[in-house]
Amino acid sequence: MKLLATTNGGLEAIAAAEVRDLVGCEASVHHRGVVEFDADVEDVYALHYRSRTLHRLMAVVAEGTVTELEDVYALTARSPIAERLPETDFGVVGTRHGSHDFTSVDVAERVGQATIDAYRDATGTRLPVDLDDPTVRLEAYLYDDRFTLAVDLTGDSLHKRPHRICEHDAPVRATLACSMLRIAEWTPDDRLVDPMAGSATIPIEAALAARRAIPRPDLDPAFEVLPGYDGDRFRGCREEHTERSPTLDIEAREKRKRWRNCARVNRGAAGVENGFDVVSADAREASIDADCVVSNLPFGIRTGTDLRELYGAFVDRLREGDVGRLVALTTKPELLPLEPTDRYDIPYGRLDATIVVWKP
Ligand SMILES: C[S@@+](CC[C@H](N)C(=O)[O-])C[C@H]1O[C@@H](n2cnc3c(N)ncnc32)[C@H](O)[C@@H]1O
Repeated sequence: MKLLATTNGGLEAIAAAEVRDLVGCEASVHHRGVVEFDADVEDVYALHYRSRTLHRLMAVVAEGTVTELEDVYALTARSPIAERLPETDFGVVGTRHGSHDFTSVDVAERVGQATIDAYRDATGTRLPVDLDDPTVRLEAYLYDDRFTLAVDLTGDSLHKRPHRICEHDAPVRATLACSMLRIAEWTPDDRLVDPMAGSATIPIEAALAARRAIPRPDLDPAFEVLPGYDGDRFRGCREEHTERSPTLDIEAREKRKRWRNCARVNRGAAGVENGFDVVSADAREASIDADCVVSNLPFGIRTGTDLRELYGAFVDRLREGDVGRLVALTTKPELLPLEPTDRYDIPYGRLDATIVVWKP
């Protein structure tokens, strides 16, 4: 079957590499923040307890070219949608990009009506609609003339890690942290330092990845209610998954005591107390030796920090030290006095951010 998987926009290639590593499927970009690939039900299970960069998986039900709104209805009505849904309430989320004389709400409405009609024709039952909290969620994408309809398999997004008890003011998403670690080509044998670690999202995700820990052990996936999926089998596979206990060399540095405390709380909740130290250090002054420096730098928006001075002194410490590679997330890449080896431009909430890669 064809799957779609969502991830952080601009990091589709990183997610595709993870999918290849975990289940051997070749993924390509469907549109920004979404990759597509062919996989089987066992792959769906594995990705739901092993993926660190994906947010949500969906099974494609219909695809085609659309010139007018009624094509959306026809493509949905002709699809095997009735076989893919259980007899329960559903909702449709429409996403539309490009120039059309109708809205994403119109797309969602046409898909909804076609689904009701197709299900009633096949079974005699009229499916109830719940737009607020549906048991089954359909995603309808219209990108220019390309229409794709998919059933959500995940439910609660995989990026919501349960160990994030203490929230930083400006936390990085766990899936973005994992993508940055992959960009850094970090392995558990490498020394990793996050010199401005805040609540230690990056060190925690590294320690969990090294252990092969399950990112969302608490997940009740949406696919459990769908025909063709076996929730017990999924839970059995998840329980049988084995972790490792490698010796790690990771350091979370942070200037502010408040965030060091927060980092320790989250580290404990993640069960990786022995995975790394949380230390007091000023990135403008502390010397640094590491295979990988991976950090979500302060953006200076709320703090009023002099970013030019901070970034300049930090890069001086990197140049003086013995550093293999830097992977840094910032909204002000121009303030880093270095020539990036690579960069990834990503949307970051309402801001534009960049992941800067630098190999000294
Ligand atoms: C964007 S936040 C990092 C958030 C973190 N990735 C998380 O998910 O919690 C940047 C952090 O850098 C810290 N910071 C700012 N200037 C610093 C300095 N000179 N040395 C060390 N840490 C600093 C801030 O206190 C803040 O916690």
